Amino acid sequence: MRFGRGRRDETGEVAARHGDDALVVTTRNAMQEAGFLDDLLTSLEGAGISTSVYDDANPNPTVSNVVDCVETAPDAELVVALGGGSPTDVAKTAALSLGTFDGVPSVDEVWEYASGEKSVEDAVPTVALPSTSGTGSHVDPWAVVTRVDERAKVGFGGDALVPHDAVVDADILDEMPASLAARTGFDALCHLNEAYVARGSNSLTDANALRGMEIINRNLRRSADGSSEARESMAVADTLAGFCEATSGTVATHGLAHAISAYEPDVAHGQALASVTAEVARYNVENGDDETKRRYGEIAETLGFPVADRKLDAPFVVEAFDELIEDIGLNASVGDLTDATPEELAENTVENMGLVLRNNPVELEEEDLVGILEEAY
Ligand code: NZQ
Ligand code: MN
Repeated sequence: MRFGRGRRDETGEVAARHGDDALVVTTRNAMQEAGFLDDLLTSLEGAGISTSVYDDANPNPTVSNVVDCVETAPDAELVVALGGGSPTDVAKTAALSLGTFDGVPSVDEVWEYASGEKSVEDAVPTVALPSTSGTGSHVDPWAVVTRVDERAKVGFGGDALVPHDAVVDADILDEMPASLAARTGFDALCHLNEAYVARGSNSLTDANALRGMEIINRNLRRSADGSSEARESMAVADTLAGFCEATSGTVATHGLAHAISAYEPDVAHGQALASVTAEVARYNVENGDDETKRRYGEIAETLGFPVADRKLDAPFVVEAFDELIEDIGLNASVGDLTDATPEELAENTVENMGLVLRNNPVELEEEDLVGILEEAY
């Protein structure tokens, strides 16, 4: 990892280790308008790398985006992502496709990997320059893509999808509008708190998660207000959160949020998370074992809600989340975001996000998800 302002200029030097024919992936406007795409192309070309650009990735990217992206440069030796989680995940899935198929794959062929039918083995190298903080995608082995015709938003992964290099340059993060900084920062908080309570948690996750949540408590509100210094800190928290996604993964909160965006592709991931976070926490505290309750107590503490008795009950952590969500302007209910019913959303979660449901600290049946969604509606 290269971490620091201005270090985007080192991308060419980093990428040259992986090949001399790069496919650059970004979204449609932000990176062009701020000049960062030009900076990146200058750095790559200065290192003798030829470039092709795919700049049509949707927020909540689709498998069709991936196919079109590969079509842009079917012989690329490496993929460079410039942007938020969406272009990064298109880049990672394109890297998988370039490393796996001869020529351009069909949507169905890519979907076999995304849906978990086939396991990820080979990918060409990826270099990631994140523009949000964020999804942690620049350091984790996951990619998230949507198949619109099946209303399915899935996460999948493998070691080959971990970017070979990440270049985190906070100059890029300064360009985020307030609402994007708020919802992407909340996403990072979710990776940290979910990994901390996950069945798959371990002591390495714990250290990164607790530190990351402290950083977020001190900086997320200020980052949403535009502070450059806070945005730099949020990049640290996002990276620690990405490590947590790699070592422990997420829980039911992410499962439900994916179902909301599967029904409503225009609803941003962080906004969907904010609508269900408090109610998933309440359910897990009320139905979890002592260790789960203790962990939610620590989460509440890191968010500034001191808990004298470590065996707290739900209201502390629910209040902590509610207050933060209100402060950063993400307080929309599930029913504000979609007309899909709790039953439809619960079924969609079970169908597409079983991996994170099995990682939830409390066992959840479809009817339990319906109950959580009714509370959050
Ligand atoms: O389209 P334009 O106009 O270019 O706008 C972009 C983008 O479309 C704009 N933007 C991004 N960085 C900016 C900026 N505008 C100004 N300044 C900047 N620095 O914001 C729009 C949305 O960006 P997007 O990449 O969609 O946001 P985010 O980083 O939140 O990524 C969300 C995607 O990542 C997935 C989500 O599900 C969603 O699809 N996730 C990926 C994960 C992973 N790979 O590990 C884990 C996460 O849990 C998450 O699921
Ligand atoms: Mn997320």
